[in-house]
Amino acid sequence: MPSESGKVVCVTGAGGFIASWLVKLLLEKGYTVRGTVRNPDDPKNNHLRELEGAKERLTLCRADLLDYQSLREAIYGCDGVFHTASPVTDDPEQMVEPAVIGTKNVVTAAAEAKLQRVVFTSSIGTVYMDPNRAPDKVVDETCWSDLDFCKNTKNWYCYGKTIAEQTAWEMSKEKGVDLVVINPVLVLGPLLQPTVNASVLHILKYLTGSAKTYANSVQAYVHVKDVALAHILLYETPSASGRYICAERVLHRGDVVEILAKFFPEYPIPSKCSDETRPRAKPYKFTNQKLKDLGLKFTPVKQCLYETVKSLQEKGHLPVPTQNDECIRIKSAPNRY
Ligand SMILES: NC(=O)c1ccc[n+]([C@@H]2O[C@H](COP(=O)([O-])OP(=O)(O)OC[C@H]3O[C@@H](n4cnc5c(N)ncnc54)[C@H](OP(=O)(O)O)[C@@H]3O)[C@@H](O)[C@H]2O)c1
Repeated sequence: MPSESGKVVCVTGAGGFIASWLVKLLLEKGYTVRGTVRNPDDPKNNHLRELEGAKERLTLCRADLLDYQSLREAIYGCDGVFHTASPVTDDPEQMVEPAVIGTKNVVTAAAEAKLQRVVFTSSIGTVYMDPNRAPDKVVDETCWSDLDFCKNTKNWYCYGKTIAEQTAWEMSKEKGVDLVVINPVLVLGPLLQPTVNASVLHILKYLTGSAKTYANSVQAYVHVKDVALAHILLYETPSASGRYICAERVLHRGDVVEILAKFFPEYPIPSKCSDETRPRAKPYKFTNQKLKDLGLKFTPVKQCLYETVKSLQEKGHLPVPTQNDECIRIKSAPNRY
């Protein structure tokens, strides 16, 4: 990769799953990075200090999304900002205000500091939650989630992210900020941070025995490294504009458990659907052409699932069954075999 030495960028929420990968790749490219975290002294952020180049070119700044001054200080003097920090929860109080106010604060600070570009980490949740979309419609960057539908279904994550993205667009127009938005689907892959984030939990539950069945529903997936690379592509490509869907493939949960069971037969992966009365949910169609046109090559979802599980094992979040465990399990659950 060509070196970007001398360029200074800010990454908000630097200790998170996606942001940690983004910081890693930015440092590898020679950028100087200011990462915002809520508590630089929290050992959960130590992995950032161990990244290659961190000693020379990474500063961790204390900042909260609701505290404008803290963000302003982190952003001032940078060339660009990647705004990835956001709560990831369905609790309306914890979700909506920090996501929306935080976005307002970042765009305002970026305007004040006259940054070259803001890359905002939005979500597919701002794109596809629309009950009135025709079943055959290809989900693309013109689609927007229906706020009433999100509210009525109590999907406060999608609600908060949608208002936050709309706010980012309105404010960046008003303040003359060059904004580019990435809309990733569910992100998987190796963890750099020590804790398990919400999207990786989605897979962990199928391996620990806590999910006895799988849902009759579909989900799109993408590899965390591809998401981080896409952020950098959007920052570095002057012609990049608008929204960019970042997705590799849509799978039914039945496909996910089948892939997991083939790679890791030693875990109690569910083999029954929780709803066998309705027809099997069909994958929706989407396009990821805009990112492909910028040169992004997506990692196949099977590899992504494999690497996620290996990483969960390596980080100690998932026990690696020994041969003895396997014998005990087979004896105690003969009906499975
Ligand atoms: N993972 C996915 O599947 C996925 C898919 C689409 C979009 N996204 C978006 O990608 C971004 C990163 O998600 P992630 O999966 O990497 O989640 P994550 O690991 O939970 O990271 C979220 C980060 O946001 C920070 N944060 C939360 N509330 C904050 C606040 N009030 N002030 C300052 N920082 C705050 C957290 O900091 P603390 O460590 O201090 O809590 C954490 O570093 C989010 O914007 C999310 O909506 C994620």
